[in-house]
Amino acid sequence: MRRSRTRRAVDTPPGPPQNRAHLMSPNDAPDDGELVAPNDPTAQPLVVVLAAGLGTRMRSRRPKVLHPVCGRPMLASVLEAAQAGGGGRPLVVISPATTGIRDVFGDAVDYALQEEPLGTGDAVRAALRAAGPAVEVVVLSGDTPLLQAATVRSVIERRRAEDAAIALAVTRPEDPSGYGRILRDADGHVAGIVEDKDASARERRIAEVNAGLYAFDGAWLGARIDEIRPSGATGELYLTELVGLARREGRTVVAAEVADAMELSGINDRLQLSRIEAVLRRRIVEGHLLAGVTMLDPGSVLIDAAVELAPDVVLEPNVILQGATRVGRDTVVGAGSRIVDSVVGERCQIWTSVLESATVEDDVRIGPFAHLRPRASIGHGAEIGNFAEVKSSRVGPYSKQHHFSYIGDAELGEAVNVGAGTVTCNFDGHAKHRTVIGDGAFIGSDTMLVAPVSVGRRARTGAGSVVTHDVPDDMLAVGVPARLRRPRAAPAASAAPSTGDPPPRRAEPDR
Ligand code: UD1
Ligand code: CA
Repeated sequence: MRRSRTRRAVDTPPGPPQNRAHLMSPNDAPDDGELVAPNDPTAQPLVVVLAAGLGTRMRSRRPKVLHPVCGRPMLASVLEAAQAGGGGRPLVVISPATTGIRDVFGDAVDYALQEEPLGTGDAVRAALRAAGPAVEVVVLSGDTPLLQAATVRSVIERRRAEDAAIALAVTRPEDPSGYGRILRDADGHVAGIVEDKDASARERRIAEVNAGLYAFDGAWLGARIDEIRPSGATGELYLTELVGLARREGRTVVAAEVADAMELSGINDRLQLSRIEAVLRRRIVEGHLLAGVTMLDPGSVLIDAAVELAPDVVLEPNVILQGATRVGRDTVVGAGSRIVDSVVGERCQIWTSVLESATVEDDVRIGPFAHLRPRASIGHGAEIGNFAEVKSSRVGPYSKQHHFSYIGDAELGEAVNVGAGTVTCNFDGHAKHRTVIGDGAFIGSDTMLVAPVSVGRRARTGAGSVVTHDVPDDMLAVGVPARLRRPRAAPAASAAPSTGDPPPRRAEPDR
């Protein structure tokens, strides 16, 4: 049940009915829904997340709030805190310049459209038009990715406790420049906010700033939102004007002090982005260290927020772990490796390699300088060696692909030995074709497997052969193009595929 719809069902809409179209939630169909009485204390606040600003200081074509911080769009972290701290589905204010946000978050949230980013006051007005009247409105910005749910909750609670028109979070950052400064009256009460661009030199020396997180008395906000006048300095409609307005009416405004100024640090440019990212990165790294991960040089390791590491994982210097990556116990990720959206099992050894959307089972050795590309799946005990590339392929347990070779669109069984320089020629210029290699097969050095093709169980190919036809079980293929031979004597080793040992007398370079 969407909050906005139920509210509209009980209350008088603040604007003409066609404004309803501004709420651009997919599956938007009228329904009667359950009714939420406006004074119901259990009613969740309307949580508005501002994300319509151009973010010009980022100098980017991408909407500011979609810039990643430790691998996640900054808005994702804000929405998480907003939802957990405020309850219910957030309403995200977007503008034509930031509609890309909808492509990323889809129907996980509701949207309100601010036609033109005329300022934060106008953005909240757009939200209220879309959602209809609300008992309580929480407003926060999409550019504070370190925000915690508890802080959102504390601001809401402060407002309720004092029945204030507005409760706002305030902090004392090391450098207050850029922020709105808090003006206090002789009694120490919040009297107003002056924006940095409009502030006098004396006002700019005020250390206490507006953090950009507010809880409003919804009825009061609805009645006053149209009274904001444009700033003389910038022509923008500042949401912060409401603070002075409330005080002049004799309404209470409370400031909830947030001790950690960093938590509400807004990102306006890429220098601030890099600083916030450094803070978050350090927290992520420290979290993993305390959870039992060894890092030889923690400062050089980059780990995205969503990465999961088991205890006793070892990360050597300059490792980058990104996206939805998981690494199992006792696995060593060697210096300079990059692992993206991949799952790696236990007791693996990865040396200076790149893994993308790959799955690696237990006890696998990879690298140095191997590249596992999307949909590479490596069975337990397998060995993927120097300059080996695997794409969209299954390499079965105990198989070995040691030296400069390419396996693409292939299915390798157990204990297959892939000789140096082997290539699955999977692309004919138009389409991709599959290669299938059976258990215990032995692919000689420099074999070209021209797909579609299959090599049977325990079959072998000679060095330099170009295999254009299927090779049945136990047969040998040699030459260009390869012709079939029956091997003179079946080597004993190939009868026991799980050992993975190559048959004798093969000119294979050793690892
Ligand atoms: C704002 C506050 C400032 C506070 C600071 C905290 C105002 C006028 N100023 O300044 O007092 O100290 O945040 O970080 O509110 N946005 C819209 N529509 C618009 C303009 C902005 O949705 O028309 C959104 C932006 O996308 C952003 C948020 O509102 O997410 C804040 O806007 P921003 O331009 O970053 O405001 P600040 O200058 O940081
Ligand atoms: Ca900001």
